[in-house]
Amino acid sequence: MLRVENLTFAHPGQATPYVFSFVADSGEITAISGVSGSGKSTLLDLLAGFLEPTGGTVALDGRDLLPLPPEARPVSLLLQSESLFDHLSAARNIALGLPSRTEKAQTLQRVADALAEVGLEGLGDQQAATLSGGQKQRVALARTLLRARPILLLDEPFSALDDETRSVIRDLVRTLTTRHGWHTILVSHHADDVEALANRRYVLESRRLSPSGETKK
Ligand SMILES: Nc1ncnc2c1ncn2[C@@H]1O[C@H](COP(=O)(O)OP(=O)(O)OP(=O)(O)O)[C@@H](O)[C@H]1O
Ligand SMILES: [Mg+2]
Repeated sequence: MLRVENLTFAHPGQATPYVFSFVADSGEITAISGVSGSGKSTLLDLLAGFLEPTGGTVALDGRDLLPLPPEARPVSLLLQSESLFDHLSAARNIALGLPSRTEKAQTLQRVADALAEVGLEGLGDQQAATLSGGQKQRVALARTLLRARPILLLDEPFSALDDETRSVIRDLVRTLTTRHGWHTILVSHHADDVEALANRRYVLESRRLSPSGETKK
């Protein structure tokens, strides 16, 4: 379980700090909603280690994550428009999820497996710049698979997708979260994404998180 307690932070110029507390379970999607500017991305940046809190704790299965630099945290971050390297192929982008010392044959196999798992068989050689928005999100999810980091942070990941693609990618996130036991934290102001995906929900308001709705198992 991911347990966040009184994680405290203020941006420069903010008189009142954010104080975040919530829990997220393995194999579950925890949704965080809140109006624009309420601090959702700030929370994800704190979890990923891009911002440094002034107090509080972040623990995964009892292990304190706050001393770890971003690259050492068991965290992947997936944004609305995907951060792929446009000039590299889908497969090369996915391979970036593996440690650079990984042996070539093993890399090829693991990339092929990940491509299949996200439904991109045969597209490994295509240049990232030429992929559709949904295909790019699949590549990003495949890279996340190889990283094997149990916390997946999603910041409005479906916003740029059409309705049909959005629903397919949502299903994929659900499947991968269950299969790999990820703690998936979904930030979204789309009520239907939250409705479709969330096991547990929080609303971010007045710099605090409050549980909202039922917890679905
Ligand atoms: N680097 C910064 N310096 C000062 N203020 C900042 C900084 N980054 C964000 N803020 C402010 O903190 C508040 C929360 O921003 P944040 O990006 O976390 O909101 P959000 O909930 O993700 O909004 P959106 O839904 O529009 O993405 C906003 O008022 C924003 O202007
Ligand atoms: Mg944001």
